[in-house]
Amino acid sequence: MGHMPQGGMRRPTAAAAVLLLLLLLLCIGAHAVEQDACLPSEAHPSAGCAAANLAASVGGGSRAAPQAGAAGGSSQQTGRICEYQDEVHAEGMEGIEIGEHGYKYRIVDGLMVPPYVTPTRYNASRTVVTRPTDVCYCSFPKSGSTWLATVLYLLLNDGVEPEGRPLRSNLHWMESSWTYPRTQAEVDALPSPRIFKSHMPHRMALAGGPRNSPCKHIYIARNPKDVAVSYYHFESGKAWSGRYNGTWEHWLRIFTEGRVQRGDWFEHVLSWWEQRDAPNLLFLKYEDLKSDFRGQLRRIAAYLQVQLSAEAEERIVSATTFAHMRAAGFSNHKHIADFEGFFRKGEIGSWKDRFTMAQSEAFDKLCRQRMAGSGLEFDFE
Ligand SMILES: *[C@@H]1O[C@H](CO)[C@@H](O)[C@H](O)[C@H]1NC(C)=O
Ligand SMILES: *[C@@H]1O[C@H](CO)[C@@H](O)[C@H](O)[C@H]1NC(C)=O
Repeated sequence: MGHMPQGGMRRPTAAAAVLLLLLLLLCIGAHAVEQDACLPSEAHPSAGCAAANLAASVGGGSRAAPQAGAAGGSSQQTGRICEYQDEVHAEGMEGIEIGEHGYKYRIVDGLMVPPYVTPTRYNASRTVVTRPTDVCYCSFPKSGSTWLATVLYLLLNDGVEPEGRPLRSNLHWMESSWTYPRTQAEVDALPSPRIFKSHMPHRMALAGGPRNSPCKHIYIARNPKDVAVSYYHFESGKAWSGRYNGTWEHWLRIFTEGRVQRGDWFEHVLSWWEQRDAPNLLFLKYEDLKSDFRGQLRRIAAYLQVQLSAEAEERIVSATTFAHMRAAGFSNHKHIADFEGFFRKGEIGSWKDRFTMAQSEAFDKLCRQRMAGSGLEFDFE
């Protein structure tokens, strides 16, 4: 090359090309590794996934779910979870429907839910036997529940993130056949305290809700404009939503009409708000956690009867910032296919990027109508 007169010009170009090629190969390689490593679902261990990972199922197959709070953990715990697939996760196609713009859903007990919330899982979630030491958190989707789950785990574990064990292996999602499903036998085998997740309205609550189960229920709600925008990003193009491809305008319409997975936001939130006097229910707002994290952290600790040391409080404060959670492996869910952008913004007021003035005014009016007399209010900025 050196003998070529234009060599000085060409060398960097060639070097750049080689670098690009290398990068490309690296990307393909990394992608292939991730695909191979995806975990089977519980009910259909091998379908659609690498058979070699059968034994690596988190809470899968006949193995007991990993023990909450148990130390250690192996590379198995961080394996990738397959993208949602009907054949693997729907546990039967009965009741699966396709709506406008390909939006996929299932109706269970009159509620529109994702296809991985199957009638059998739902039944199990209703009858699961909980303990007074259990924590059961619930929300409409995209309302800060993963943030809350991280806080709950850390509160119960002295503010220490476990090595090599993602958050989801410490959570139990009875109503789901995908990501971190559990059976009664699996959760029975776990030591206390256990952390259960649900996205159901109160009439369909885990274990029958606060008045029918001894566990400590926590509900978190977020202003519905930010929920609508966040949920639009979350559902668009995803396997579990039939790769829904409607416009924002369309989404906002079905959201306000309650024709999205988990149904009507107002009904969902108000159904839990009405139960707020139950001694084993704590009602939280995302915006309060944003504006006064320490105050809310202490409130949650008091509710759970956890002695929060100053050191643990500091650890939790730094482990639960948005930037830390997005970057760290513990709770960012990046090992779940299709969850790469799970932590998108985490701000109050992101709805302004999407809502037009007219949409905002119409939505405010709807809010006033639907929430009138409830005493529940939200900060929108
Ligand atoms: C959107 O999805 C529907 C149904 O899945 C499909 O028929 C249509 O071609 C898609 N439209 C666009 C613009 O991609
Ligand atoms: C769920 O429970 C209901 C009410 O007990 C029952 O009618 C239904 O058959 C159950 N469904 C499944 C799939 O177990």
